[in-house]
Amino acid sequence: MIILGIETSCDETSAAILEKNDEQIILKANIVASSFAMHSKTGGIIPENAAREQIKYIIPTVQKALAEAELQLTDIDTIAVTYGPGLIGSLLVGVETAKTLAFVLNKPIVPVNHMIGHIYANWIEHASEITFPALALVVSGGHTDLLLLKKHGDLTLLGGTRDDAAGEAFDKIARLIGFPYPGGPAIEKEAKNGNSKRFNFPRPLIGSGDYDFSFSGLKTAVLREVKTLSSLDSQTVSDLCAAVQQAIIAVLIRKTIHAAQAYNVQSILLSGGVAANQTLRDTFEQTLKDKHLPIKLFAPSKNFCTDNGAMIAAAACYNYNQSPWEDITANPELYFD
Ligand code: KG4
Ligand code: ZN
Repeated sequence: MIILGIETSCDETSAAILEKNDEQIILKANIVASSFAMHSKTGGIIPENAAREQIKYIIPTVQKALAEAELQLTDIDTIAVTYGPGLIGSLLVGVETAKTLAFVLNKPIVPVNHMIGHIYANWIEHASEITFPALALVVSGGHTDLLLLKKHGDLTLLGGTRDDAAGEAFDKIARLIGFPYPGGPAIEKEAKNGNSKRFNFPRPLIGSGDYDFSFSGLKTAVLREVKTLSSLDSQTVSDLCAAVQQAIIAVLIRKTIHAAQAYNVQSILLSGGVAANQTLRDTFEQTLKDKHLPIKLFAPSKNFCTDNGAMIAAAACYNYNQSPWEDITANPELYFD
């Protein structure tokens, strides 16, 4: 089966082509067009601008994916598309393109929840190694969620963000220190030269006993600290970044490992843009080792952590809930259904 995966929920425009044979999945193409440079200039995403760019990119992106996979549009068996959550204008670009293709080609659509897509980015490269039960930590710009997966299609939300998501905290703190959007990669880079012990930032909800997250207090604490500093010299910026990164990572790891032990999982699946953070990945691996926990840790390659069509196609492979195109509508508020 050949699946075309379309993802346009935020600022990226992506199309991927994936082939599924028995239990094996083969990624044939994954094209991502980003309006990243434009959003860096405005300090964040302006939804209408993002959607206008995506309208320009979507057809060339699908064409590029087909060319790279050396396939024709008529070779596609199914179209998988993100239908939520996300920005309404952006979602509509992908959803309406998918519906048009499905109508013209007379093929089914598999609507995919963007967050579930992030989790399934892990299956692109590790399909044969992941074992259930698994715990998924989704850390993106809009979400910080912990989910239990007993098997494909059996998913329970254990906890989520009460206010700012981890990626949002990285972005907002980066902005107040003076870095462009997206803030996560900039903070990670600066943190390499910093002393994380110079500032002692809060680790919100770290010992709360539940699986919820909250990062808005961290942003306020950084803002307060920045106001007391006479200058933001480069060493101070690096130290701030290292301390912020450490505070976020400490909460993510503590809560995830707590849930992993409580639910006796065999695999932990990291996903979402923040999972691209190498210090998070390394610290997770080290903590599992130090605690002698026999849990396998998975994280997608970095290009599959941020938004991409391959993860949407992969999610559709394992959750093949197809619908006629007439039944698909974009749902910006979609959570876990
Ligand atoms: O998953 P994603 O591409 O989009 C959403 O679905 O939100 O995630 C984007 C988020 C941004 O907040 C960005 O700052 C963060 O992921 N991010 C990172 C890193 N790379 C991207 N955060 C920390 N470290 C990184 N290396
Ligand atoms: Zn995302």
